[in-house]
Amino acid sequence: MLQKIKETTGYIRQCVNFEPEIGIILGTGLGNLANDIEVVKTVAYKDIPNFPVSTVQGHKGQLVFGYLGGKKVVAMQGRFHYYEGYTMQQVTFPVRVMNALGIKLLIVSNASGGMNPTFKVGDIMVITDHINHFGTNPLIGPNIDELGPRFPEMSEPYDRRYIKLAFEVAEECNIHLQKGVYIGVTGPTFETPAEYRFFHIAGADAVGMSTVPEVIVARHSGLPVFALSVITDLGGGPVAEKPTHEEVQQAANAAEPRMTLVIKKMVERIKF
Ligand code: HPA
Repeated sequence: MLQKIKETTGYIRQCVNFEPEIGIILGTGLGNLANDIEVVKTVAYKDIPNFPVSTVQGHKGQLVFGYLGGKKVVAMQGRFHYYEGYTMQQVTFPVRVMNALGIKLLIVSNASGGMNPTFKVGDIMVITDHINHFGTNPLIGPNIDELGPRFPEMSEPYDRRYIKLAFEVAEECNIHLQKGVYIGVTGPTFETPAEYRFFHIAGADAVGMSTVPEVIVARHSGLPVFALSVITDLGGGPVAEKPTHEEVQQAANAAEPRMTLVIKKMVERIKF
């Protein structure tokens, strides 16, 4: 693993002489945030040694290096999902690489199904905590002490300072933000009505098929995390909804300008 990270960062540094301060994982329908980046260089996943290649519709599959809100960022346009058949190590490898490139904050976005009855389709939820319901963990296996501790503590998976900053900038921009707990599941099936109810009773406000593995690896590395989720469909209500991939994409696209604005304004304000 260490050798692979070295090889991959070595290749990337050869392609682009740029030290990103912030890493951003762009999820479903949110890839357009990359349009707001003053691009210095893009590197296709297929050209990066040891990088998996993204298979999901609507995912581009490249690293975008450039400036956003005056900060140096690297954005993953397209992420890897466990349901695609990648191992947990493959899903989270880019986080290891971004960390090795020197980022000081990881920003993650995703789409999810809302279970909190106060949520509406198109709402943006600040993730305040998560439940790992993948039934596995990317840190299973021998621990590499150079990367992080054997038993990482997870008392503050999502950094309080950035959660506070998000609400401050959203208020200034008149953008309403929800907040809540995200439960990560493997998918690819959406939930049954009983599963949505179960997850809500268990304390989750939204359910999705990503983010938790990447956040676990970021925290293992000591990287602070901020994450936003677009509520693209509602489960657990009195009427069972039938989410489709297209609906999820559409709702995510509709929320994208608000999400982009919040992230851009936050990035502008961040002082490391
Ligand atoms: N469930 C799981 N993942 C999702 C959902 C959902 O309802 N919506 C978007 N991603």
